[in-house]
Amino acid sequence: MQVLMSLQEEALALFARLDTPHALEEAKARYLGKTGALTERLKGLSVLPHEERKSAGAAINQVKGILERALQQRREALVQAQQERELRASALDVTLPGRQHGRGATHPVTRTLERIETLFRSLGFEVAEGPEVESDDYNFTALNIPADHPARAMHDTFYLAPGVVLRTHTSPVQVRYLKSHGLPVRIIAPGRVFRCDSDVTHTPMFHQVEGLWVAEEGVSLAALKGLLSEFMRHFFEQEDLPTRFRPSFFPFTEPSAEMDIGCVICQGHGCRVCSHTGWLEVLGCGLVHPNVLEPLGIDSERYVGLAFGLGVERLAMIRYGVDDLRTFYENDLRFLKHFQ
Ligand code: FA5
Ligand code: MG
Repeated sequence: MQVLMSLQEEALALFARLDTPHALEEAKARYLGKTGALTERLKGLSVLPHEERKSAGAAINQVKGILERALQQRREALVQAQQERELRASALDVTLPGRQHGRGATHPVTRTLERIETLFRSLGFEVAEGPEVESDDYNFTALNIPADHPARAMHDTFYLAPGVVLRTHTSPVQVRYLKSHGLPVRIIAPGRVFRCDSDVTHTPMFHQVEGLWVAEEGVSLAALKGLLSEFMRHFFEQEDLPTRFRPSFFPFTEPSAEMDIGCVICQGHGCRVCSHTGWLEVLGCGLVHPNVLEPLGIDSERYVGLAFGLGVERLAMIRYGVDDLRTFYENDLRFLKHFQ
């Protein structure tokens, strides 16, 4: 009897200690299996005198019942503990702040483009487009820049194939539009252009907005100057904005000029952004050259055209006081967030 009791104690203590279902089933076999301690004792009953056999058998069966119930309880406890562990591991804390998706914002160059478009629409210009991959003919030849002309050296051109370039300016849209539309025309043509070029005021990809106004009346150098001055005043919302027109050269305009704006970084005193001139060049312009109009069948005695090509990043740079144009394309969020 004593032995049976200590067997029971030992088994219960062991079951309580074991913490995996597998170990528990092994322990069960040790006591209740075919060759288990308790089973062996049941087998041993046959050697007992008849009058002892009954009570000894009952005692063993009672212990067996206690052990089986203890096993079952322990099994259930282990399953529950396992479920709790799993729940805790995949716990969802509903009080944590949600994952934020940044709201995103329009890039400062896109905003500048939109602003330019809105202003020119309000001045009666329509918006046209042209391809970024352009033929040598439209990019140069039709603009009075023949194959061997030194003016081609003004553009550091990316060639895609012989006779095919990434357009170096938006001026080819002038020719494309004049070819496919009747006169008069009054358009702007915004878009990407490409040059092998990189420093504080130059990037290899940048945007221009071409402007073209061809009509029988109203177009003159004075009109060009008035139009661009008016545009800049509205664009920068500054009446006393320092501007100047400088005589220049483009093969496709005569006369030609470039427009500068007082450097906003140094207030005109001279710095590395304005190459110590106090001025930033924002556009090229002029009256459309007869050599562009005549091959298109336009009588250059009757029609006068004005054209300009402005640098969008330069305007953005001046408006926002950015001292290195390349930062617009480095995609540093800390920089871009300033414009939201
Ligand atoms: C032209 O591209 C002429 N097609 C402009 C034109 C149009 C003249 C119509 C006459 C009539 P230019 O190479 O100067 O000109 O470029 C025009 C403007 O683009 C410059 O004033 C400058 O603001 C901008 N620009 C030029 N190169 C870059 C560059 N690499 N990165 C950023 N902006 C540039
Ligand atoms: Mg220039």
